[in-house]
Amino acid sequence: MSEILEIKKLSVAFDNKKILKNINMAIKEKKITAIIGPSGCGKSTFIKCLNRMVDEEKNAVINGEILFERKNIRDIEKEYVRENIGMVFQSPTPFPLSIYDNMAYAPLYYGVKDKKKLKSIVEEKLKLTNLYEEVKDNLNMKATKLSGGQQQRLCIARTLTVEPKIILLDEPCSALDIKNTENIENMLKKLSDKYTIVIVTHNLSQAKRIAGYTAFILNGEIVEYKETDDLFNNPDDLRTKQYIEGVFG
Ligand SMILES: Nc1ncnc2c1ncn2[C@@H]1O[C@H](COP(=O)(O)OP(=O)(O)O)[C@@H](O)[C@H]1O
Ligand SMILES: [Mg+2]
Repeated sequence: MSEILEIKKLSVAFDNKKILKNINMAIKEKKITAIIGPSGCGKSTFIKCLNRMVDEEKNAVINGEILFERKNIRDIEKEYVRENIGMVFQSPTPFPLSIYDNMAYAPLYYGVKDKKKLKSIVEEKLKLTNLYEEVKDNLNMKATKLSGGQQQRLCIARTLTVEPKIILLDEPCSALDIKNTENIENMLKKLSDKYTIVIVTHNLSQAKRIAGYTAFILNGEIVEYKETDDLFNNPDDLRTKQYIEGVFG
């Protein structure tokens, strides 16, 4: 099975404070990988390294390398990285535009001019994210008027409009109720047929429900990384065992 991302000896420091330490990890293509660990352990920093967002931080020093399809992401154009590795944040971030314009934004930017083609991209991705039926009669409504769960599905759909290979999600369900969370989990499982998904979650049951692989990060280090069932049923490290048993949060 192929590995779409390889992270080698990755370290990150902010203002000389070490946040990520010697991370080595390979991420499997078209699988869901969950990143778990207590608040402040470096989960967001880690996934923001994967699409070069941490590069933008003036106080960050990054060492090591990340290979995307065997090429160092720092040797690839940033636009290409961002196009292929999309990101969805904890709070939904729709643009203050209509639902349709949110969806058409990136394809227009990348030069899709044909109205029919644009419409078909919009519809296809809204269907993939289980949103189409709910919004098809209101595509001109402001996206910010949607419910939280709908906004988050719209943000995932919007990410898909540029056909990324990888989708990074940073605690995408933390502000959502059970029903919306379930909806997004089912959608992500479906999307993993076609896309590689890396999801940060503080919800251990969520990792168990959807992820093929799980990495446990503690104080900026990967303590354990393996198949999800194995990690939860058979942890090698005492710290993993204690974390999943809720000894510390
Ligand atoms: N841009 C930054 N500048 C300085 N410190 C930062 C920055 N981003 C994150 N940190 C620090 O790095 C640590 C890890 O943060 P983060 O990656 O957000 O953890 P998590 O997502 O696991 O809660 C925290 O102590 C946080 O304050
Ligand atoms: Mg975080």
